Amino acid sequence: MNEMSDQKGVANAAPISAPPGAAEAEERNLAALLSDIAVLEALTEHWPDEQRNAANARVKAVEELNAEGFRRLIRQLKGHPALGPALREAATDELVYAVLRRHGILKPSLFERVEAALETIRPMLDSHGGDVELVSVEPPACEVRFLGACDGCPASQLTFYAGVKKAIQDNVPEIEEIRQVRGLGGGGDAGTVHFTSPFASYKSDSWSFVAKLGDLAEDETKVLDAGGHSLLVTRFADRVTIFENACAHMGMAMDGGDIADGRITCPYHGFEYSLESGECLTAPEVQLQPHGVRVVGDRIEVQLTS
Ligand code: FES
Repeated sequence: MNEMSDQKGVANAAPISAPPGAAEAEERNLAALLSDIAVLEALTEHWPDEQRNAANARVKAVEELNAEGFRRLIRQLKGHPALGPALREAATDELVYAVLRRHGILKPSLFERVEAALETIRPMLDSHGGDVELVSVEPPACEVRFLGACDGCPASQLTFYAGVKKAIQDNVPEIEEIRQVRGLGGGGDAGTVHFTSPFASYKSDSWSFVAKLGDLAEDETKVLDAGGHSLLVTRFADRVTIFENACAHMGMAMDGGDIADGRITCPYHGFEYSLESGECLTAPEVQLQPHGVRVVGDRIEVQLTS
């Protein structure tokens, strides 16, 4: 709320500057109003249903009255050429913005709509100890970043495509390009042993033994069989990734492909993949199929996706 007095001054274009201390008084008034609301809400919380419903209905009726007043005001000023710029300027004050939004005078910004889309998948990310942050919105593109367990998780590409990207495209079609920026390195700590995506379709709840952790040197990749699948298994320090041994180009097994610096190159047509994220570095939007991984003691186990 610190910017309130400045914003208000600009919006009103008042020739007389505000008296000294006006900003502080305004801030105090707002704090007092918010505090009153919180106290009254807490008070009615324990009222019998009938009384509480009556109180809520009265609040709603007053809000409707205010909303109608705002709508009539905007209708009357609609033809004024300065209305749009003045409203935008006024809405830079967070309280003015909140009130106008609440009454439907202002539509949600693109940023808010993308945020709302991400909100729909946050419970699923949260169930895996992760989250996603909206970094920027510059139509027609936006950038997101994984946080927590999702950041650096081998299944994060699956989560990105099947969860994040789908949620944004379904809800905000104006956003045509969704980019994932690098995380802050919060995930994959020593205590994290599960690497699964809440958006993956797992064949079953069961886990199959793949290898002993000690059988893989650091940064080593092995092609191993488990559950009837050929798998690319890579160890990065205390983390392990497992991808289906099938190139996303034509589904060919990549045994014999060059492996270096955490990347594998398909021996057939040269598609290169990150063995950490599974993303294809040659063709965007293509990735290796990730499987769920957990390390239990010295055992590496896989949960196969379908
Ligand atoms: S099959 Fe791998 S690049 Fe074509």
